[in-house]
Amino acid sequence: MKNLAYLNKFFYKYRWRLLPGIIFVIISNLFAVLPAKVIRIAFDLVNENISTFRLFNGFERQDMLNEVFNYSLLLFGGAVLMLALLRGIFLFFMRQTIILMSRHIEYDLKNEIYNHYQQLSMAFYRRNNTGDLMNRVTEDVSRVRMYIGPAIMYTINTIVLFLLIIWAMVSVNLKLAIFSLLPLPILAITIYYVNTMINLRSEKIQQQLSNLSSFVQETFSGIRVIKAYVREDDMRKKFAVESENYKSNSMALVQVQALFFPIMLLLVGLSTIITVYIGGIEVINGTITSGNIAEFIIYVTQLTFPITSLGWVTSLIQRAAASQKRINEFLNTQPEVVSKSDNPEKIIGGIEFKNVSFTYPDTGIKAIQNISFKVQPGEFVAIIGRTGSGKSTIANLLLRMYDIDSGEITVDGKELNSLNLSSYRSQVGFVPQEVFLFSETIRNNIAFGLDTLSPGKVEEAAKSAAVYQNIMNFEKGFETYIGERGITLSGGQKQRVSIARAIIKEPKILIFDDCLSAVDTKTEEEILSNMSSVMSNKTTILIAHRVSTINNADRILVIDNGKITEQGTHDDLMKRKGAYFELYEKQLLEEQEV
Ligand SMILES: Nc1ncnc2c1ncn2[C@@H]1O[C@H](COP(=O)(O)OP(=O)(O)OP(=O)(O)O)[C@@H](O)[C@H]1O
Ligand SMILES: [Mg+2]
Repeated sequence: MKNLAYLNKFFYKYRWRLLPGIIFVIISNLFAVLPAKVIRIAFDLVNENISTFRLFNGFERQDMLNEVFNYSLLLFGGAVLMLALLRGIFLFFMRQTIILMSRHIEYDLKNEIYNHYQQLSMAFYRRNNTGDLMNRVTEDVSRVRMYIGPAIMYTINTIVLFLLIIWAMVSVNLKLAIFSLLPLPILAITIYYVNTMINLRSEKIQQQLSNLSSFVQETFSGIRVIKAYVREDDMRKKFAVESENYKSNSMALVQVQALFFPIMLLLVGLSTIITVYIGGIEVINGTITSGNIAEFIIYVTQLTFPITSLGWVTSLIQRAAASQKRINEFLNTQPEVVSKSDNPEKIIGGIEFKNVSFTYPDTGIKAIQNISFKVQPGEFVAIIGRTGSGKSTIANLLLRMYDIDSGEITVDGKELNSLNLSSYRSQVGFVPQEVFLFSETIRNNIAFGLDTLSPGKVEEAAKSAAVYQNIMNFEKGFETYIGERGITLSGGQKQRVSIARAIIKEPKILIFDDCLSAVDTKTEEEILSNMSSVMSNKTTILIAHRVSTINNADRILVIDNGKITEQGTHDDLMKRKGAYFELYEKQLLEEQEV
């Protein structure tokens, strides 16, 4: 319950829905209890007058009496119907207020969680898996909503109905009241246990279902590999095993579910029998009328649903509390990388790394050790090095995806940590090594980083990235959809769309992380020559594997094992005859072989 206290702020926010809701619950229950009384009166009327009626057997008066009798019964019937109608109307209002409130709160909570997600840093995303993150916004919030809506509504409903009925019963006959209520606590407890069991088993099924769907999903995404390696039969067998698991879990659930109604009917039946038996004795004693028995039977039946819902509601609340606990844990996670300044600043683009070291927090891999280098505004610096040497890490650090362990990174002489993060990042164009494009049109993908779009800009960026002609060859040009719903771009096309997305921002700093690996040398040259105008008076950091990509750079940093081993221009490094020279020779040989 402590965890659910978090939601109280929402109850306060929507108090003008909650309060009327509670009033509607009370009123609807008043109308629910009254019919039993009307029926009791009708019952007693019949009972008392039946002998009078018989007395006039054979007389004309009997017909008249019959008419009066029928008329009054009709009236009582009408009254019961009327009360049911009124109850229905207030039940409608109750749902309209409380359940609507729960939907509003669900919406608010989802937005709150989503906003928090966006603030959290990369390290958080590495620690948590995607399925888990998605579950919080969907599954967990739905469970919490079950508490805010149905659970609260039924709890209030049960309490009010209970008080009203018990009061009505006790005011008629205390002894009968106690006896007929006797089996109900047993009902509540049993239903609670059955419900917990149902929930446990449902949970297992849910888990199994998600295993099953991720299995199927992986099959679909890996279908090319599966077919190429002729693993269809093997996959089918694995699927059958997963399916079997799901089936046996489902059957276990059905077993418990089947218990639910028999138990309920049994205990309610018991209650009714006791009512009739004890009630009969009381009628014989003359303390109550037979109409009272009818009244009591109606009360007992009316209590059945609230009592069963009590068990259901308890488990709803327990699940909601568990979900809210997960949500709270996550909402309390503070982003590691925080912006320390509120005022946006324009940057020029000078970068300096001073003795920077960095270890990935989740894996403990020392990716960067004591690196120092300086990039003047407008300079073109290339980084080259073996795979796993720490090149992408430098790019990550420059974007401040992570905070460094020691040393200092400065931009225009100011410490990176002291800059306004979003303003800084918006002035950096980044082409990540692993291209990610959204399932959107090509135009929207390229314009992704812009708030407003002036005409012709997307085309211009596409031309600079040497992808314009490719796009125009598609039937719908820039309006072509990419991804699941649309076409699949080739690796090189994707990389170039990703480049266009970075340069359209006209950033002060451009970071290209190995973004030409999937294009051929000719296209690479085209991009680089197009780019020279884009890159003019922008600081450019180009990470590459091929020497041919970078020999025009103002300066080249050679990285190995997280350290800078050599730096200088192409010519300098060639003269040194070190690692760079070796790399060059090797790649030259490879090219000649091709
Ligand atoms: N997000 C991460 N979390 C933990 N460790 C990481 C992460 N990214 C990279 N590493 C590790 O840090 C080291 C440097 O990786 P990095 O990606 O910087 O290499 P790279 O030079 O870009 O390699 P490549 O040329 O293959 O892209 C590697 O040992 C890698 O396993
Ligand atoms: Mg890399």
